[in-house]
Amino acid sequence: MITKGPRGTADILPSDIEKWQFIENTAKETAKTFGFKEIRTPVFEHTELFQRGVGDTTDVVQKEMYTFNDKADRSITLRPEGTASVARSYLEHSLYALPAPVKLFYNITCYRYEKPQAGRMREFHQFGAEAYGLDTPAVDAEIIAFASTLFKNLGIKDLELNINSIGCKECRANYNKALIEYLKAHSDKLCGTCHERLEKNPMRVLDCKNPECKVAAANAPSILDHICDGCREHFEETKKHLDNFGIKYNIDPSIVRGLDYYTRTVFEFVSHSIGAQGTVCGGGRYDGLIEELGGTPTPGIGFATGLERILLVMEAQNVKFPTESVPEIYIASLGQETAVMSLCYELRQQGIWAECDLAGKSLKAQMKNADRSQAKYSIVIGDNEVETNSANIKDMTTGEKEEIKIDCASVAAFLRGEVLK
Ligand code: HAM
Repeated sequence: MITKGPRGTADILPSDIEKWQFIENTAKETAKTFGFKEIRTPVFEHTELFQRGVGDTTDVVQKEMYTFNDKADRSITLRPEGTASVARSYLEHSLYALPAPVKLFYNITCYRYEKPQAGRMREFHQFGAEAYGLDTPAVDAEIIAFASTLFKNLGIKDLELNINSIGCKECRANYNKALIEYLKAHSDKLCGTCHERLEKNPMRVLDCKNPECKVAAANAPSILDHICDGCREHFEETKKHLDNFGIKYNIDPSIVRGLDYYTRTVFEFVSHSIGAQGTVCGGGRYDGLIEELGGTPTPGIGFATGLERILLVMEAQNVKFPTESVPEIYIASLGQETAVMSLCYELRQQGIWAECDLAGKSLKAQMKNADRSQAKYSIVIGDNEVETNSANIKDMTTGEKEEIKIDCASVAAFLRGEVLK
């Protein structure tokens, strides 16, 4: 048992790490071009933050949180997502004093007690971004463009962008009335959870995965027929900006999102390459969240994308990852272990990846290891080489050899393609 990780978790092994680093670095570089700065918040928060922020009626809060009491009997929860934590930090550190929009990104682990399957984990990784302080449609478009550019930079194709507006508090109240009336007429087909949702948060019924609920909700009134003039205009302007960027989208009135804080624009990027868990990214505006957490009313919008799902999509689409890095040089020893180790050490001080044998292996075994390591060059240092301060360096791809000096500066210059003066 102790040699198997908990269900729903996964180790990221060295053989895969460069793929992860490529995704993370690409996300960070993309964030830079959109002017977002990194924020890091703790893995755990007070449980109340998520109850208030994410919402008491959501599946995440009701069923999926890793919640426990600490030794001082405080209720603590491992973050199920990043938005509430970043909003808490924004308030705690008065980041609202900075010029708006305040643009933040994060690369975090999240925890949800879900039924594990491909692309659905109990510990998973999110890259996300949040922008606070402006409610203009230009910010909605910028956030969507950021996510879209990230997927383009990763080389992912064929993601569908679906957008919707779920209105503000006022128009949502009107819509809920119409929706409840409709759903009550179909309540015999709804599951037990949806009966509860009908009372507390009827829009969540539209998001239910139960096939009968899906059928019952199929002809439900559309939120887009109920949003107020202000929300409609906001949505139209957001779409115009996206058109202007040339970002394609579908309007999907069934997107309601699973978290309570959303208002107005909501969106998802969906892949058809990875089966059921195809939503690789979700986000939207949340103009009431900061107030809900005790701050003055402050608009906000963001997105988060699941890195496990991105990796699945990239692998399914055979996207090329950068080639794995390999040592620049393997230095083999023929009875000159000390000289070899110190040259290897000195090259590393110069920022060069050099490898040598630490196990006292024969020259033949060392050369086998040089091959296995895929080092670009190899060199053998014995008594003669030490005496003359020169050796043949071998290009491991072409097999060509060249005589060079074997002091650190000369080897480093050779490996960097420089000529020593
Ligand atoms: P979310 O839709 O709950 O939104 O999650 C965002 C993304 O995280 C999903 O699209 C999916 O790729 C990934 N994800 C979610 N749950 C799992 C899981 N169990 N296993 C693997 N990947 C998963 C949020 O979390 C919001 N905080 C997004 C946001 C930011 N909205 C505004 N700002």
